Amino acid sequence: MRISVIGCGYLGAVYAVSMASIGHEVLGLDVDRRRIDDLAQGVAPFHEPGFDRVLSESLDSGRLRFSTDYAEAARCEAHVICVGTPQQIDAAGADLTFVRAAVDSLLPHLDDDAVVLGRSTVPVGTAASLQERLRAAGARSPLAWNPEFLREGFAVKDTLHPDRLVYGLPEDPAQAARARAVLDEMYAPMLEAETPVVVGNYATAELVKVSANAFLATKISFINAVAEVCEATGADVSVIAEAIGLDDRIGPKFLRAGIGFGGGCLPKDIRAFMARAGELGVTEALGLLREVDNVNNRRRDHVVNMARKALGGSFTGKRVAVLGAAFKPDSDDTRQSPALYIASKISGRGADVVVTDPAANQRVHAERPNLAIAEDAFAAADGADLVLLLTEWAQFKELDPVALREVVGTPHMIDGRNVLDPAAWREAGWTYQSMGRP
Ligand code: UDX
Repeated sequence: MRISVIGCGYLGAVYAVSMASIGHEVLGLDVDRRRIDDLAQGVAPFHEPGFDRVLSESLDSGRLRFSTDYAEAARCEAHVICVGTPQQIDAAGADLTFVRAAVDSLLPHLDDDAVVLGRSTVPVGTAASLQERLRAAGARSPLAWNPEFLREGFAVKDTLHPDRLVYGLPEDPAQAARARAVLDEMYAPMLEAETPVVVGNYATAELVKVSANAFLATKISFINAVAEVCEATGADVSVIAEAIGLDDRIGPKFLRAGIGFGGGCLPKDIRAFMARAGELGVTEALGLLREVDNVNNRRRDHVVNMARKALGGSFTGKRVAVLGAAFKPDSDDTRQSPALYIASKISGRGADVVVTDPAANQRVHAERPNLAIAEDAFAAADGADLVLLLTEWAQFKELDPVALREVVGTPHMIDGRNVLDPAAWREAGWTYQSMGRP
């Protein structure tokens, strides 16, 4: 099929490349010329394992092109909206400017036979309002909502081998049948692999996405709330997570206590979900998510307090090494990163902070020029009064406590991700603290 992918950010670029890799002819569109030029030359705009390879293979196949010119989309049978929906600058809700702009830019080139698909994460009601926008402009193309569930670090795999496909179809039966046929053809290899397809109306499909992310965020904050109780009692949250995770109604995933969740999705999605519930007059239904957000924010501040205490009550003149800046390993994404929040807070309070991250160093340098950057953990920890492990990269989990002890000023480790072996670090002479573990 000929597909245009509108918006080549994380979601769109991965989607465009993945769809080309399964045989479609794909045009990636974005208003950001530099991004388009980079992608067209095979340069990945972010760190994502496996992405570079599929990008260059798809470009070489001739099935993938990038452009800033919407007119080139005119021949496409499906147009897929993948633009970002960030949190509004001055409010909790999602900013839909880019979604509306995508539809408006597409309209002059939209053929009635083509189908418009939405993949961006949007507040419930957005698809219906976009359908209105299309109709008001005289377009008769069917619109369907088809949310994605990709995780950074596994983005290509999650796109090509999703757990499920969700189709939010229009009410009109003929339009729904047309949209469904296009979706089925686009995802033929996934359907052949027996990927479950869940079908609903627009609102249902929109809510599937935000509900999934809200549930994941709730699971993390739940275990982090238990960690707070563990800290008051001497219990061990990782043993509790293991024990409750063995109940297959609960499951072991997303029960890792630590410094909480960050990234471009979970924090903004729960806030946008709450904001939308407020607009719909059902604020109380999602009051729970307010606590999820509060617990999450408390864990970051808790580490800042732990660090202050570890340094004898004041940050002034102290050297602190921060291992990790990305919101999670195998990513260079620092959006809403708890690691970067903690590093900045400690630096703002007078410590001499040196950050190192295997992929995000350049980004940190550009975004937070006040933070010193080191090439690796040993350089960061050189002479440090305190070391904080804040993103669980493999190279940090495998650090040798004996060798690291040689370079630090004071061997004090706060493991914000509960990934180091407490006994090994203590044996090597470190004061070792973690989150919700005695
Ligand atoms: C998430 C969803 O997983 C994905 O389905 C959705 O499409 C986009 O949002 P992502 O933001 O890539 O994906 O990251 P994810 O792997 O979910 O991790 C989110 C945050 O939670 C990270 O900061 C991670 O460190 C944290 N986390 C995750 C925990 O603190 N504990 C856990 O047990 C799991």
